[in-house]
Amino acid sequence: MDLESPKKIAVVNGPNLNWLGQREPEIYGKTTLDELEQSLKQFGSGLGLVVDCFQSNSEGTLVDYLYQFKQQGGQGVVINGAAFTHTSVALRDCLAGIELPAIEVHISNIYKRESFRKTSYTAPICLGVITGLGTAGYRYALEHLAKEL
Ligand code: DQA
Repeated sequence: MDLESPKKIAVVNGPNLNWLGQREPEIYGKTTLDELEQSLKQFGSGLGLVVDCFQSNSEGTLVDYLYQFKQQGGQGVVINGAAFTHTSVALRDCLAGIELPAIEVHISNIYKRESFRKTSYTAPICLGVITGLGTAGYRYALEHLAKEL
């Protein structure tokens, strides 16, 4: 019998991902954020994970959430920092500071798009990056964290 308590994982989504499903569906698909979050919670629980989902359009709010998650015993992070991936030293420093295993996810393939998307401030702090596999990337990230933890 597995007596281990479930691991707490945060799925964090950055700016404009609140608009998933309506936003450029030819790039990001038709699944809404709510549908995605519900499916990840369910998928995670099958892996022995408690998945806490959080989205914000504000950089500071994302940083505040991550510190709170760490302080409350969070154990791993799946992060799609969206546009902040390419700009945010604050998010990068926060991920470095909290020292939790993190996986960066992008729904689209950031290397097939505009050149400004090819820079990620957060990737060097992460265990790995999953990019271009659609929303399935979040599930692959959860599977990996479940094995790692
Ligand atoms: C994204 C890619 C980013 O370049 C973009 O700013 C996003 C979404 C993705 O999931 O493909 O908002 O992170």
